[in-house]
Amino acid sequence: MQTVRLLGRGDFSEWRDAARALAAAGISPREVDWRIGGLEEELFEAAPLDLPKPDPAAPPLTVPPAFLSLAEAVVCHTEPGRFHLLYRLLWRLQSDRRLMKLTADKDVAWARLLARNVQRDSHKMTAFVRFKEIAGETEGRRRFFAWFEPSQFVVARTAPFFRRRFADMDWIIATPKGTASWDGESLIFDTRPGADPGHGDPTDDLWRIYYSSIFNPARLKLKAMQAEMPKKYWRNLPEADLIPEMIANAEANVRAMAERAASDPPLFHYRLQQAAEAMPQIVPAMAGSIEALREEARHCTRCPLHCAATQTVFGEGPRDAHLMMVGEQPGDQEDLAGRPFVGPAGKVFDAVLKDAGIARDTLYLTNAVKHFKYVPRGKRRIHQKPAQGEIEHCRWWLAREVELVRPRLIVALGATAVYALSGERKPLSQLRGKPMTMEGNVVLYPTIHPSFLLRLPDEAERKRQHALFVDDMQMIRHLAETLEA
Ligand code: URA
Repeated sequence: MQTVRLLGRGDFSEWRDAARALAAAGISPREVDWRIGGLEEELFEAAPLDLPKPDPAAPPLTVPPAFLSLAEAVVCHTEPGRFHLLYRLLWRLQSDRRLMKLTADKDVAWARLLARNVQRDSHKMTAFVRFKEIAGETEGRRRFFAWFEPSQFVVARTAPFFRRRFADMDWIIATPKGTASWDGESLIFDTRPGADPGHGDPTDDLWRIYYSSIFNPARLKLKAMQAEMPKKYWRNLPEADLIPEMIANAEANVRAMAERAASDPPLFHYRLQQAAEAMPQIVPAMAGSIEALREEARHCTRCPLHCAATQTVFGEGPRDAHLMMVGEQPGDQEDLAGRPFVGPAGKVFDAVLKDAGIARDTLYLTNAVKHFKYVPRGKRRIHQKPAQGEIEHCRWWLAREVELVRPRLIVALGATAVYALSGERKPLSQLRGKPMTMEGNVVLYPTIHPSFLLRLPDEAERKRQHALFVDDMQMIRHLAETLEA
């Protein structure tokens, strides 16, 4: 029997090197005893693997890419049998190349389940890490610390997400399963357990305000909430101490909401009403469904843009989508096709959605302005940014799309959409990634417009910005799931 000792803290190369040597020496899974644990120093002291020389005539060891990515996730699990399971799969793959496709196979199913647990834990880490500022700066960079308690060894796997997202600050994420730190240049991991210094800071209050403003007692679903935000994370979430009280008061608050007299509409509605009244010839009967509204919008003449455009490009997607995304205005191809985001910006948008795991057909997708604005140049039509007045005229349609679809979360793609939805005119760099609460507790999440990526000349920068956009979309997916629950 061959004993293999591993530290077992999510480092894939540790298992891969041992497995490669064992397989090359022809040692079957039944002859290997995988042991986990100990400190790094002890492992160095342990006897090295004493293996027979590999057979030079043996074919090289190869595995399908699907196995590699699965194994990289599985080694991060805390399940003691994971190394044995992976070695058995590796062994069986040498005689059955289709093994990974057999989802009903016991080993494959078990490995996939462990990998899913790891992915879920990693996702939780991206959602529940809360940075606290540490006094003092290093060379002008602010410093932050976060304590987090993952179930699996996901720190090294998840740290690149934080490096991309918080590239401009120094940070440390300490966990009982290792520590990651970033200083603007290097991302460093330490596999030893970290310690929780347990201090609060003023950002804790911001989290509390944000959480209490998006909490809707009428939509409380306790089981779904506990599944999405398990109690084990609460200790390190500043907003968590509000939860028991909000749950306890939910029923009474729903009753109070129902009994409260209807409040005055916001000023925004009066402005829309006045604008509509000023143009009686173009105000048809109020459409009561999104389909009727679309039909109404086909005949829109609220501003001169309709004169040169081919057609109105109205929103599309499920009429009761929880997630709505709003772009700026249709481009050349959208104008011809009559559908939003089907041109070059639409291709970038589709790729980012795919990388973030969001299905386009689950969201309601529309634009702040519904007609293409352009100047002709030769045979080409060159896109022009909509003017403030055009955005304001078109707000009529957007506000009614929001009213009818009733999304819980609206993503503003770019500054025009932010302005159309909230009236906010600050630069997008200050607003990006900071959710705001709109009328009716709808959350508005500002991010970049996909065409921003098309304008970047440098390939490396484009890749970096693509990854950041995907991070935003993953955050949006998580927020949408939380709000839906
Ligand atoms: N840009 C937008 O903002 N919307 C589209 O539909 C296409 C490009």
